[in-house]
Amino acid sequence: MYQSINFATPSVIFGMGSINQTGAEAAKLGAKRALLVTGPNVQKSGSVDRAVDSLRASGIETEVKVEARNTPEPATRIAEEVSVFAREMGADCVIGLGGGSVLDVAKMSAALVINPLRVRDYFGKEKLPARGIPTIMIPTTSGTGAEVTKHAIFLDEETSVKKAVASTNLLPNTAIIDPMLTVSCPPAVTASAGIDAFMHAAEPFVSKAANPITDNLSLNAIALIAKWIGPAFADGDNLDARYYMSLGSLMAGMVLNNAGTSLVHALAYPIGGEYHINHGRSLTPIMLACFDYIMVAKQDKFILMAEALGENVKGLAPYEAAQLCLKSLKALLRRLDLPVCLNDLDITDKSKVDRWAVDAHAEQRLLSRCARTLTVDDIKKIYLASFSA
Ligand SMILES: [Fe+2]
Repeated sequence: MYQSINFATPSVIFGMGSINQTGAEAAKLGAKRALLVTGPNVQKSGSVDRAVDSLRASGIETEVKVEARNTPEPATRIAEEVSVFAREMGADCVIGLGGGSVLDVAKMSAALVINPLRVRDYFGKEKLPARGIPTIMIPTTSGTGAEVTKHAIFLDEETSVKKAVASTNLLPNTAIIDPMLTVSCPPAVTASAGIDAFMHAAEPFVSKAANPITDNLSLNAIALIAKWIGPAFADGDNLDARYYMSLGSLMAGMVLNNAGTSLVHALAYPIGGEYHINHGRSLTPIMLACFDYIMVAKQDKFILMAEALGENVKGLAPYEAAQLCLKSLKALLRRLDLPVCLNDLDITDKSKVDRWAVDAHAEQRLLSRCARTLTVDDIKKIYLASFSA
């Protein structure tokens, strides 16, 4: 079979200290007045000053907007407010500096400067009719991949459900990945964001949407993250660990943008939305049951993933080698203090499964890529298997 491949990525600048190139990159995009969107913790770290200094040194007037929020995913209202601010100041470029939620707000607010409706009008696949003003995304965590993706995830406050804008028109112009910015990231965030990156590499790898380019990026990202997430979690000042986690996360983000997530993310959405759990921690309690369900379709790929995780599969029967992948992942989650089942999050009410399954089944944008066809009852079984590890 001759597979056709479309592969999209922003222009990528990766390296220690690369935040100092923000001004030069914004100038290449024709920026004269930039809005820098960030979060309160990043503002304290000094990174904002370095980005602003770089922009002003390139002759670009810059205003800073600090996004305050109280839910793990940003509410749509915040992106709308930031876009009004951008329009009123006459911004011709939006720079996002922060974790995934900040980057999502920055991307969406730049889009709303040109596209006049509300965020909820653009939920779904390719609903955004035009590109916004140019954007530069600078992540301060290794995980979400938001700097290289066409997605923005929001909490719809009217329904308390997480929803995505997934549109080619949302892809940033430039991603600047400076591993030094992740040094201040605390251990729990390093673990949950790092495992999110792992999922962005692993989940597409065993889906129907993978292609030879994303497969190579996936295996490299899985190997880098499996090797370095522990050292980065244990010692935030370990620069080797921060460097390779940033590289792994970048590769995983490229996979996410070009092959997309599937079953695990779809089943995590109802849980994350209801309990306001941070994104990475909403994925891990259902990951093992989801992978176990897919394994019958993609055994060969689970064997490759076990090897990328550092396991020795020589001499094992194929099904044993594939199962070793799950065993290895479970041990990794435990070492990182991440939940391996729903009970680990004190979620014990099984009566919720019926509704979650209906909500997750509605995420056909993601489930259509799953290697197995799923009914609502299949999804219920996966949730029920996730209550104990
Ligand atoms: Fe994710």
